[in-house]
Amino acid sequence: MKLNIEYAKSFVEFNQDEMQKRVNKIHEMIHQEEKPSDFLGWLDIPVTEQKDLLGRIKKTAERIRKNSQVLVVVGIGGSYAGSKAGIEFLDKPFAKQDIEVLYAGHNMSGRYLKNLLEYLKDKDFSVNVISKSGTTTEPAIAFRVLKNELIKRYGKNYAERVIATTDGKKGSLHELSKNEGYEMYVIPDSVGGRFSVLTPVGLLPFAVKGYDIDAILEGAKDIYTKSLNPDLNKNDVYLYAVMRYLLYVSGKKIEMLVNYDPNLGFFAEWWKQLFGESEGKDGKGLFVASANFSTDLHSLGQYIQEGERHLFETVLKINEINDDVIIEKEDNDLDNLNYLAGKSIKYVNEKAIDGTILAHVDGNVPNMLIEVKDISEHTFGQMIYFFELACAMSAYLLDVDPFNQPGVEKYKKNMFALLGKKGYENVLKK
Ligand code: PA5
Repeated sequence: MKLNIEYAKSFVEFNQDEMQKRVNKIHEMIHQEEKPSDFLGWLDIPVTEQKDLLGRIKKTAERIRKNSQVLVVVGIGGSYAGSKAGIEFLDKPFAKQDIEVLYAGHNMSGRYLKNLLEYLKDKDFSVNVISKSGTTTEPAIAFRVLKNELIKRYGKNYAERVIATTDGKKGSLHELSKNEGYEMYVIPDSVGGRFSVLTPVGLLPFAVKGYDIDAILEGAKDIYTKSLNPDLNKNDVYLYAVMRYLLYVSGKKIEMLVNYDPNLGFFAEWWKQLFGESEGKDGKGLFVASANFSTDLHSLGQYIQEGERHLFETVLKINEINDDVIIEKEDNDLDNLNYLAGKSIKYVNEKAIDGTILAHVDGNVPNMLIEVKDISEHTFGQMIYFFELACAMSAYLLDVDPFNQPGVEKYKKNMFALLGKKGYENVLKK
């Protein structure tokens, strides 16, 4: 992975010595024995010995691949976004799939769930229910529905088709799993939902899809190792965090993660969840948005070029694309495309990237460019760790706690009060 800040640095006042001092302090703080937060457990995952756990994950995945055509992952927020991002990033469009991974419990739509049940009717399926707290309403409801469907279909052996990924000691899901005898995976106490992709939360669904989870962790380790040196001249993760901080304090309030490949569409959703929930608090934080180009150049592109000047873009570019199409020459050239004959679509896309960056920078939209090698497990692991670490650095630069989400509780309390849940009777009373 490589970061290029050429098209962003003229927009900020970059006192490198001062920023380096602040970065060094945070770097030491997060790497010291006595951590500033109980939720920094994700930091060392890439260098933690976990042979037994990975072996067990691969065995479970093999069993699911043998007895199921579909795995339904039930979860919301950090309990689903990372695995969906990885599966869509590594996906080969339109290829025949050995096994499908579908999602439930990430919305409150009965229509979605009813039609999912309909779709599963003539297919063998298993469920991986994921909830760290084990009490989140959306996945709890979806799991109850899917569990009852499994019981109808498989009788008391249904439990063999449920894998619960949750807290090691507490929570309703933990209790239910013990009671029913589900296979369980533990989300470590020190790893919060949105930082949990490299735990069984993401690794089991990846393994079920047949992806190489060792390579994902190797990719993460690569960024871990490179980031041990906090020097901003050598550390792209910290440089990215510093630049987004400086752009923010210079008045840019929105960061758009821009991609030029449909396989990155859901990665942007994971990224938004990571940064939005980690930084948006205490009246601070960049609003994180995303765009899929060139599709969105025909919609949001107008706003980016000429609308309010409060945003910057971070462009995620994949350098090597294996499958491609060459544009053919035609004798009559009625569509006027012969000037591109012999060129690949990747070539045209690259010109779209270069041309768009120049246009947007011209329109006073700072651009950072992050180049990744290819569509592979290794690259996916790199991207996950790159942004997780950048997010922690960035939030600490803003002086907010990256690992809590107090604002998420407010809607839940109101909803529980409106639904008549015991204990919430007084929430809406003035
Ligand atoms: O990042 C987070 O902590 C949240 O987005 C959670 O992942 C989300 O709220 C789901 O929580 P849980 O896994 O406890 O069901």
